[in-house]
Amino acid sequence: MSNFPSEEPVLVTCGLPYANGKCHIGHLRTYVPADIFVRALRKQGQQAAFICGSDAHGTPIVVNAEELGITPSELVSKYHKHFESIFRAMEVEFSFFGNTDSPTNHARTNSIVEALIERGYVYPQVIRLAYCPNDNRFLPDRYVEGICPYCGAVARGDECDQGCGKHLEPGEIKNAKCRICGNPAEYREQEHFFFRLSAFSGFLSEYLETLGGTANAINYAKEWARELKDWCITRNLEWGVRFPGHEDLVVYVWVDAPIGYISFTEEWAADGWEKYWRQKSRIIHFIGEDITYHHCIFWPAMLKGAGYTQPWAVVASGMLKIDDKKFSKSRGYVVWVDEDYLDHGFHPDLLRYYIANYTSHTKELNFSWKVFQDKVNNELVGALGNFLHRTLHFAHKNFGAVPEGEVDKEIYEKIQSTVQKVISAFDEYEFKKATDEMMELAAYGNSYFQSKEPWQLIKKDRGACAHVLKNCLQIGKALVLLFEPVLPGIMEKAWRQLALAGDVHVARLEEALVEIPSHELLAPEILFSKIEDKKIKEMEFILDRRIKIAMAKEKNKLEAGKEKAEITFEEFQKLDIRVGRVLSAENIKGSDKLLRLEVDIGEKRQIVAGIAKSHAPSELVGRQVVVLANMKPAKLFGVESKGMILAADGEGAVLLLPEKEVKEGARVR
Ligand code: 2FM
Ligand code: ZN
Repeated sequence: MSNFPSEEPVLVTCGLPYANGKCHIGHLRTYVPADIFVRALRKQGQQAAFICGSDAHGTPIVVNAEELGITPSELVSKYHKHFESIFRAMEVEFSFFGNTDSPTNHARTNSIVEALIERGYVYPQVIRLAYCPNDNRFLPDRYVEGICPYCGAVARGDECDQGCGKHLEPGEIKNAKCRICGNPAEYREQEHFFFRLSAFSGFLSEYLETLGGTANAINYAKEWARELKDWCITRNLEWGVRFPGHEDLVVYVWVDAPIGYISFTEEWAADGWEKYWRQKSRIIHFIGEDITYHHCIFWPAMLKGAGYTQPWAVVASGMLKIDDKKFSKSRGYVVWVDEDYLDHGFHPDLLRYYIANYTSHTKELNFSWKVFQDKVNNELVGALGNFLHRTLHFAHKNFGAVPEGEVDKEIYEKIQSTVQKVISAFDEYEFKKATDEMMELAAYGNSYFQSKEPWQLIKKDRGACAHVLKNCLQIGKALVLLFEPVLPGIMEKAWRQLALAGDVHVARLEEALVEIPSHELLAPEILFSKIEDKKIKEMEFILDRRIKIAMAKEKNKLEAGKEKAEITFEEFQKLDIRVGRVLSAENIKGSDKLLRLEVDIGEKRQIVAGIAKSHAPSELVGRQVVVLANMKPAKLFGVESKGMILAADGEGAVLLLPEKEVKEGARVR
């Protein structure tokens, strides 16, 4: 028995992306399976609302906007549009994609917080908070960096994001430093408001026994529910939803963000939202496993406390790796959906298949261009595309139509058993299992076609050949219906090639067992094309270059951050620094980094400088430069160098210049 269709209304949501950066494959790891799931529900005749939106508040947004010199609202608007366009391009079709800064979300958040206050679940308490005396401000969440009190890893104010993953309460982080100026933070007292999470311990223990979803979410949550700490839900920020009655405080972003799920439903269906959030329903949250605590602990407790319906299932996706390395934007291990994928002309369906089929939804998904190529070429092109194309091509060429006649019983049985296995895999959020079953039907189709040798049969027995083709076309129809949730764009084309009436996105899975009608066929076009090695090399090169640039930046940052030992004036005086003028410059054969310069520093010197990547020889001749004249001579690429040109780190090497022209050889002191 399948879980769907159900009598209760179904609402599927996806974790809201912070509107502060571009969409990468890590995001799609959650959104694509959620979209596949919703399409699969609809294929089973289950109506489902699919809700998401931009997470507009919190320090991730404020810190980023501040760094870019724009307002949080400008930042949010930019990335809100970006996510909308990427989702459209990737065929992730939400019923509604909102923004947590909307008036509806401000109003709904206020109403929920007031309900919690009224019911005695919110109380004030004076706490010690990180404060920067240099910037004269409290340092909420990501404004602080320090050491996690639980595991000792470097952490940010509200989360140990590089270590144990624990949520950190204000004041908990050790060795707090201000993120704006880097100075050590002090602690100052201030009144804040707490949500009485501990009062929900009994409720949560029972609730988690009934909560559906994936084991990676539920099992952790059961552990956490044993020991619950109250939760500080106010912050000293300007940007956010005001805490009722306190102009200087906003609610913590993890209060108003999930409330977005409710307000977006409200914005989408002004009259219908209550059937999801006030009555018995099936609310299914798709999230990344790093935000399990928020969805399985905070959120159900808040909903219970304020009198709303709690989630029916929480489905947590495993994290993403790139080339077997932990995903990291700062280290360059990232694949951006626009510039690294769509802009290169790859069809969205190929990546959708990869995400669904690489591994189980709860395991780590590794993205590598080589594996991507193998999966596309062997599975989508080699099995599915090959079967659909050879069937359509043969039927069109020899019959010009879907032949008349009945489909064999075994063929229907095979289709039916595949449909059942696929549905039960979706019921368990096992996208790999579901797509493997679909692919197995394509493989079955291929071996059936091969074993019946229709290319021989057509010469001997046209009727028998027509019968084989009819069976193949029925399998083709079933494959298109089964794969539609995963490959909506390409299956739409395939549906047209099978000359089937109606909209494939609306057609139900049960139609897979309805005989394919005998109508005319047009010449089929190729549905999937192989990806060439050259293209994959190009993509690997782009990723490699990004990793190298990131490593170099990281190194520069570390060097810049390293405090060097103090030196005395006498020690400084040992340096013979002089202004010189470049007399000639040329590249050194065999090196793309080095230039050979002749510099007048009161005497003529030959100096080898590693500046060829940022400076052409011609632009240097005649310029004044600053030279460390008593650098120990060295030979580089066989060329002797006596001195060193001084430069600052920047976009390449940035040469130092005296404020105005001075005589060659002038000392720097
Ligand atoms: O972790 C994140 O990226 C958050 N923006 C997710 C919010 S999901 C929800 F609860 F709103
Ligand atoms: Zn500071």
